Parts: sequence; C-alpha cells; structure tokens
Amino acid sequence: MMLLENLLTASTLVGLVFAAPTTPTRNNGSPCAAVSSAVAAQPGVATPTVGAELAYECINSVPLNKTAALNLIQAVKPYFRWQSTTSWLKDPPAEYVAKVQEPVDIFGELDVIEENVKSKWTKEYELHGKAWRPMHVCATNTRFYI
Ligand SMILES: *[C@@H]1O[C@H](CO)[C@@H](O)[C@H](O)[C@H]1NC(C)=O
Repeated sequence: MMLLENLLTASTLVGLVFAAPTTPTRNNGSPCAAVSSAVAAQPGVATPTVGAELAYECINSVPLNKTAALNLIQAVKPYFRWQSTTSWLKDPPAEYVAKVQEPVDIFGELDVIEENVKSKWTKEYELHGKAWRPMHVCATNTRFYI
C-alpha cells in the first residue's frame, strides 16, 4: 500500500509539473523544501504548481531507503502470488496481446527491481518509476488488484 501511496505522491508531483508553473524560491534549501514553500505560497489554489525543473530535482533528491524498499518488495509478493492471473499475464493469449497489452512477468520484474534496489539504484524515484509497470498491470487488469 505504501508503494501505491508513493506512486500517488509521484503522480501528484507530475501533475504539479505539467500544470502552469510558478516561480519557485530556492532560498538555498533542498529542492523539496522549495516545492513545499511554493505550494504553501499558493493557499486556496486547488492545484498548486511548481516548475518542472524544480519538481524533477525534488523527486530525484530523495535517497532510496534500501531496507524499506526490500521490505516493500517482500510484502507485496504474497498479494501478487494470491492473484490467479499472473501466469496468464506472463503468457497471455494472442488476442489479449493484440488488444490489451504485452505479456508481463510480474515476478520476473519484481526480481529485477529487487536486484536493482540491492545493487544499483540510489534514489526513491528510480524504484517508483521502475515499479510503475507492474502497478500499471494492476490498474488495467481489474482482477489483479491490491
Ligand atoms: C529506512 O527504512 C527502515 C525500515 O522501514 C526504517 O526503520 C528506517 O528508519 C528508514 N531509514 C530512514 C533514514 O528513513
């Protein structure tokens, strides 16, 4: 569930990026502090905005907590295993591929994500950007829903 919350946060930030930007004030603070200040300076605005560059700096400044990431990956696996559609998603009928989506090896992708968390990635955004594809499958296939 934390992953979904983080994805929601990331997509909210993307929404901020693509909205009309306002000029941020950096004040020598962190990029995310500047985002926070920019949002706070827009009280009553339903969809506060910040510049794309600042938003990008912010999402890329959050270090990856490898322990939490590995815990998350282990935590979602039982839920994914509970889904009866994973073998079909990995090897779907041709018509499904033609009309819905390419095959997705959920557990293979999770293994790759886990390996990258252990040995390669250093930023939270790397995890959540890469984790998007399995989550996208969840979103497009209502039988695969956590
Ligand atoms: C990283 O995650 C672990 C496990 O959730 C947590 O105990 C720890 O406080 C986190 N570290 C930081 C720096 O947030």
